Amino acid sequence: MRTQVAIIGAGPAGLTLSHLLYLQGIESVVLELRSREYIEHRVRAGVLEQGTVDLFRSAGVADRLDRECLVHHGIELLFERRRHRIPLTELTGGRAITIYGQQEVVKDLIRHRLEAGGQILFEATETTLLDLHTSSPRVRFRHGGEIHELQCDFVAGCDGGHGVSRTFIPPGAVSVYEKLYPFAWLGILAEAPPATDEIVYANHERGFALHSMRSPRLSRLYIQVPRDEPLERWPDDRIWEELRLRLGTDDGWTLNEGPIIEKSITAMRSLVTEPMQYGRLFLAGDAAHIVPPTGAKGLNLAVADVRVLAEALTAWYREGRDDLLAAYSTTCLRRIWRAEHFSWWMTWMLHRHEDEDGFLQRLQISQLRYVCTSRVAAASLAENYVGLETV
Ligand code: FAD
Ligand code: PHB
Repeated sequence: MRTQVAIIGAGPAGLTLSHLLYLQGIESVVLELRSREYIEHRVRAGVLEQGTVDLFRSAGVADRLDRECLVHHGIELLFERRRHRIPLTELTGGRAITIYGQQEVVKDLIRHRLEAGGQILFEATETTLLDLHTSSPRVRFRHGGEIHELQCDFVAGCDGGHGVSRTFIPPGAVSVYEKLYPFAWLGILAEAPPATDEIVYANHERGFALHSMRSPRLSRLYIQVPRDEPLERWPDDRIWEELRLRLGTDDGWTLNEGPIIEKSITAMRSLVTEPMQYGRLFLAGDAAHIVPPTGAKGLNLAVADVRVLAEALTAWYREGRDDLLAAYSTTCLRRIWRAEHFSWWMTWMLHRHEDEDGFLQRLQISQLRYVCTSRVAAASLAENYVGLETV
């Protein structure tokens, strides 16, 4: 088997890259570890930046997104039992965020790729990357019970935070910067109309909580729990009780409850791999960097990476230029470090930390008050949240 670009992983990064390359007449094969059914139903992100939506539109894959998404012009910060609105659109010259589930993005991209004759091999296992330092790398994998070998010009490692691509880079060839947090998010999807028009981020003495949504009938909610917390400790009643406490306000607001249709725990970490390239292997998305979800940046960074990579590969194939490929990592890392900082800062400001005498909590409340009363501080949060055009 031969292709131009072998893409490992059919998440938002891998699928978007495959589609952008197709639009430029460049062939790719996507190898995905899981089944199509599994990845089309994996509940994760929900907030798309303006730039991400604009890219999907210009790439012609936003038809269903445009029909079904929810556009939000602000977010709310809740502390000391009061909500404060950050008017994102007003503060950013008209930019907004879009609520549309990641699994819907994945479904749309898979459909567009397959309709255009694109090749996605689901349930491809034992993926091994070979000869990355030559001009003809190879990918060996098992599919349909047999071992195959894919020859290519480039490999794009888009296989997420638990993928294998990164492991084929020899130790010492890249640096990894990492921070683990001592807490996690327990997330639920519930058949309940959202009791809020906009996303609410809550700082509460019992821990962080987030009220988001997927549609006028589906709420997406999260609470901070200790790292390595077993899910069994959280029967549905306990989750609702905790959400009621942490999201409660003094103005009589009530949470809408309903059947929980998905429940999972996600560890929180920050990680950056530098550079994001080794020979003919280019890492993109979570395979190269992780952010805690508090800033809603992960999927958006993944899409931003592959936009840069698709342009660089196009310049290589069309004009024989390698300067954009050489600059890929440096170009992406500017945006990535800004998002890393923003996500770390939001995480710090909103979560409950080890804090014996309450010093950190007082700093958090002071910071939250500042963000909610100073237009300049609010504008800084807003421009980072909707996504900076230049970094
Ligand atoms: P992934 O989506 O992880 O895709 C990688 C793919 O590679 C997967 O399909 C995987 O099965 C496959 N794979 C793994 N190993 C192999 C292998 N060996 N061979 C082949 N394939 C392999 N981001 C936002 O922007 N906004 C949000 O609101 C937001 N909220 C989040 C909430 C939660 C609870 C979580 C967990 C994440 C959230 N994120 C958010 C982050 C976002 O989900 C990720 O950043 C995003 O999925 C990254 O996309 P990706 O394509 O790089 O990786
Ligand atoms: C979500 O809707 O899943 C969501 C919203 C905001 C975040 C993270 C996740 O910061």
